Amino acid sequence: MTPQELLQQFQKRRSVRTFTGEPLTDEELHFIEEAGRWAASSSNRQARRFILIHGREEVARFAQAAKMNPFAAKAGLLILGWSTNVESRGATADVFISMTQMETMAWALGLGTCWLGTFARDEVPGMIGGAAPGWPVMMMAVGRYEGEGQCKAKMPADEMFFRGRF
Ligand SMILES: Cc1cc2nc3c(=O)[nH]c(=O)nc-3n(C[C@H](O)[C@H](O)[C@H](O)COP(=O)(O)O)c2cc1C
Repeated sequence: MTPQELLQQFQKRRSVRTFTGEPLTDEELHFIEEAGRWAASSSNRQARRFILIHGREEVARFAQAAKMNPFAAKAGLLILGWSTNVESRGATADVFISMTQMETMAWALGLGTCWLGTFARDEVPGMIGGAAPGWPVMMMAVGRYEGEGQCKAKMPADEMFFRGRF
């Protein structure tokens, strides 16, 4: 892949909220897992775990935690990113870095994604079979989708990037 092709890959990413409900294939799940597994982490501690919610019934059941995001019930996959260290900002970053790589892989597979920051974190332990050490940082919906949609405008580079000082 050339740098130009990679940039185009990033430029076509957008938040998708029109999933078809079709589950992902095992091969798609494999590539998404591998993308997350190879991500950088603070001191290589890998203080992150991911609960993959797959299959129509499981996704619909779990989407109840994502109350403000009813479209999540039709995702092909929900990813719950879990930090194993409540105290550590690095551990939170570890979760996000993996999930960002998983998102990029999902788009490379022709799937759409949407981050889900709004969900009932207190309900999640009950849904995954009990309290685990750490906390649920983030969810992401992944799946096949309908419609073209539109990418949102992004800030110009000279408003976002500064050379050496503000
Ligand atoms: C940390 C984070 C949390 C988000 N939470 C939600 C959410 O709960 N529901 C939702 O529909 N979109 C959510 N989004 C998606 C943003 O609304 C979206 O990324 C933003 O509007 C820019 O649009 P784009 O992704 O199409 O470029 C979240 C994004 C991020 C990065």
